[in-house]
Amino acid sequence: MENKSKKFRQLLKNPGSVLLSGAHDGISSKLSERAGFHAIWASGFCISASKGIPDVGLVTMTEHLDVTKDINRCTNLPVIADVDNGYGDVINVTRMVAEYESVGIAGICMEDYHHPKRCSLVSGLKRDLVSLEEFASKVKAAKATQQNPDFLVIARTEAFVAGLGLEEALKRANAYADAGADLILIQSKDSTAGEMKAFAAGWGDRIPLVSVPTMYPTTTAAELDGMGYKVIIFANQGLRAAVLSMESVFKQIVDKQTISAVDDQISTLPNIFELVGYDRIKELESRYITS
Ligand code: SPV
Ligand code: MG
Repeated sequence: MENKSKKFRQLLKNPGSVLLSGAHDGISSKLSERAGFHAIWASGFCISASKGIPDVGLVTMTEHLDVTKDINRCTNLPVIADVDNGYGDVINVTRMVAEYESVGIAGICMEDYHHPKRCSLVSGLKRDLVSLEEFASKVKAAKATQQNPDFLVIARTEAFVAGLGLEEALKRANAYADAGADLILIQSKDSTAGEMKAFAAGWGDRIPLVSVPTMYPTTTAAELDGMGYKVIIFANQGLRAAVLSMESVFKQIVDKQTISAVDDQISTLPNIFELVGYDRIKELESRYITS
């Protein structure tokens, strides 16, 4: 099996930003690679949404792993799995790491929410983080479980989202780095990216930082790079593009009772045939089905 963890570590050594696209299924994974992203984010938010449920700890590890396997099979790029809070306590974390690593996932990103986790993007939800010590133990357990030395454990703190401020965010991130985390993801809903700037300024260059600019969308990858963020995750734009397009196309079909009006708004069939690989089926047929 290809060492995609090593591939991701190489991306970290390259100059410039490492850009990840959020995927929620095999085809969004393929499209992410074709667009030129460097790696894929198996997004909890998008996988939950694609199942028609909110991202609040309802998707089980096995459900997420199942989709993540599709995502990984459909790309040569390294896949980072968004494993929420590790699906339970430190014991659950050990199984989770073993399962994701065994199917060739490059690394996992685990956040310091109490179970059940809450979606960072939604205002008004009750938020509860585990103690710094408890989450540091989960990071330690994850690092001790991995077999491949290149496998990555990204520790994510929700300190800003939970309203705990810069000092607590830095304290937690430092403790998670001490516990062995390979990267730190800091989540923020500050639309000015001021929290992100302050965090990076206080961090230095201990281990690389990860940003998910959903809530500060006007901040560019170059600006984040300038602040000190090496990895940028565009976590949910693919799903949102698909939803907007389906909403519009479905409505037009119902209104006009014909598909001719939407023909130029949908993928051609040959594009789908090529994306999912029908030529390979024809080749297999000609080789093995003689009758
Ligand atoms: C996800 O895509 O599930 C993430 C990123 O965790 S965010 O939703 O922005 O928190
Ligand atoms: Mg998530």
